[in-house]
Amino acid sequence: MTTANNQVLFFDTTLRDGEQSPGCTMHHAEKVRFAHQLAQLNVDIIEAGFPIASDGDFESVRAIATEVRGARIAALARCKQGDIERAAAAVAPAQSNRIHTFLASSDLHLEAKLRITRQQALDQTGECVRLARTFAEDVEFSAEDATRSDLDFLVQMITVAIQAGATTINLPDTVGYSTPAEYQQMFQAVRDRVPGADTVVFSTHCHDDLGLATINTLSGVCGGARQVEVSIHGIGERAGNAALEEVAAILNIRHDQYPFANRLKLDEIGATSRLLDEIISFTPSPNKAIVGKNAFAHASGIHQHGVLANPLTYEIMSASRFGVNANTIVLGKHSGRRALEHRLKELGFELSREELDQTYTRFTALADRKKSIYDQDIIALVPQTV
Ligand code: KIV
Ligand code: ZN
Repeated sequence: MTTANNQVLFFDTTLRDGEQSPGCTMHHAEKVRFAHQLAQLNVDIIEAGFPIASDGDFESVRAIATEVRGARIAALARCKQGDIERAAAAVAPAQSNRIHTFLASSDLHLEAKLRITRQQALDQTGECVRLARTFAEDVEFSAEDATRSDLDFLVQMITVAIQAGATTINLPDTVGYSTPAEYQQMFQAVRDRVPGADTVVFSTHCHDDLGLATINTLSGVCGGARQVEVSIHGIGERAGNAALEEVAAILNIRHDQYPFANRLKLDEIGATSRLLDEIISFTPSPNKAIVGKNAFAHASGIHQHGVLANPLTYEIMSASRFGVNANTIVLGKHSGRRALEHRLKELGFELSREELDQTYTRFTALADRKKSIYDQDIIALVPQTV
């Protein structure tokens, strides 16, 4: 898969890395429905699952490959013959497909987990990528734990992967350890040193263990990556992956700082987020950027006054741009008279100054006692004469 110089491809891994995390298990029909929504959102690549993991996962990836159109369908495989063959069979029906194979590049993983030498890892990389290429023209190779790997060895491994036919090279921050400057430099160094680097697309894959997944992803793009591996709400192993909605929002809202293009239909983010809420067992925290229930809400009187006068005072973007609910003015004990007046007008009540003063006094007393104020509560406060 090629990309124009400033075009960033969105690779969504909600159905793979996301689904691997506790509370995020999805049934077959849910996965297929979600994949259709990802295609609506216009992601470039859907990582549909890990077919060797179970027969159920195989069937879901195959069903997605069979019926979802508009996005490339990828499946994950360890660097093993059986995994690659199973992934290849699962994505075979897709109009455009990808095999995504991975092998660890850090000494820690090679020694403690895989118990193989660096040379064996290089041999395995070449063999697996070549095997994957016999099934698919589009093969992604990931050097797992890239950010804790010896740079010289990482360069060697990526060189082997490209020579064997890999078309996308992913350098994951598997354990969320990297800082933005380090992550950017790693991409620059690998791209400078690996022969043929300009013939492949480099990819980010960031975990959020230190809360840096989003900024690391963007730093990887600044270092030359042109694919971002993300998930909706950032679900994924442990603290999760970089959240699609955050990366997409920054690329759009701060285009001045990150002058890159993408194909996403931003206003489908809300529908995709709500569908994920229906499927998995938890919703994003209320203060989560873009999709949290408070992301576009204003509760304090000063902010409400400002937003009612001009939304730009406290909003850098509009909820509608992302297809999410605004829930702009929330009434509570920090609200001011203007917010109350605004809500009363929405409810069909035009109050005189004196009536509004009386209602506001009763409202603040109620708000001191009651945490959530509903429209019925407000209506009950309005003088009978109105
Ligand atoms: O975090 C990681 O390294 C992964 C790979 C399989 C890409 O999820
Ligand atoms: Zn991951």
